[in-house]
Amino acid sequence: MTETTSHASAIRAGGVAITGLHKSYGSNEVLKGIDLTVAPGEVVCLIGPSGSGKSTLLRCVNLLETPNHGTVAVSGFDATDPEVDLNAMRRHVGMVFQQFNLFPHLSVLENCTVAQVKVLRRAKAEAAGVARENLRRVGLDGFEDRYPDQLSGGQQQRVAIARALSMDPQLMLFDEPTSALDPETVGEVLSVMRGLAAAGMTMLVVTHEMGFAREVADRVVFMDGGVVVEEGPAEQVIGSPTQPRTQDFLRRVLNPTDVEL
Ligand SMILES: Nc1ncnc2c1ncn2[C@@H]1O[C@H](COP(=O)(O)OP(=O)(O)OP(=O)(O)O)[C@@H](O)[C@H]1O
Ligand SMILES: [Mg+2]
Repeated sequence: MTETTSHASAIRAGGVAITGLHKSYGSNEVLKGIDLTVAPGEVVCLIGPSGSGKSTLLRCVNLLETPNHGTVAVSGFDATDPEVDLNAMRRHVGMVFQQFNLFPHLSVLENCTVAQVKVLRRAKAEAAGVARENLRRVGLDGFEDRYPDQLSGGQQQRVAIARALSMDPQLMLFDEPTSALDPETVGEVLSVMRGLAAAGMTMLVVTHEMGFAREVADRVVFMDGGVVVEEGPAEQVIGSPTQPRTQDFLRRVLNPTDVEL
């Protein structure tokens, strides 16, 4: 057994282990050697300035992007092994994006059942049962027959979360799930995510919501320029960061009107 295989098999049930991850687009090296772990049941919030590589890192975790170097192990799969069953691996990983990416021509219920039927080969009735349960979980009981354009942004994002949960993921990835929302609907989405965390879901969350990160994250990772600059308990990284780049970023995020022109 190779080292990466034994490493991967140690990462069960939602855990993530990334070592030496490099990713370039042409000559633009976006990730410059990232090491990151998420233990099963842990909530890790990823913060950092625009362009620092946060989305790219998340996309490497479920191999929407192919890393140039390094290893990515997810839920017992070595994602960078050429022999890996990518579809089987991706089935364990749910992803929620800034733009909710719901199918506009499908009802809320259908949005939550279509992949269950196609990918997991569930019978329609079973898939509908799972979808209803998850819609209840995100507070959308009674919305099954609506269409996405009949919902607020916060409600659409909660459908997207219910859709991801309906695939029984062991790991949930969130990429700025609240940054496209009207301020008054941000809270309802964060509240659903808080509930998931409390229920023990393993979560890797890119967010600018520092209050949420501070309250919910077990660990906060600050990235800048394609490297991890600082990581640690939320209270430490957000409350008393040690690195000047982290301090500068947090000053700007926490005081958005306090800019020098
Ligand atoms: N598919 C792509 N092709 C080429 N360059 C890309 C691609 N995706 C991202 N990049 C580049 O990689 C860098 C990092 O982008 P990424 O989206 O990962 O940053 P981010 O930290 O998520 O930023 P933001 O906070 O704005 O979402 C940027 O310079 C971006 O232009
Ligand atoms: Mg991004």
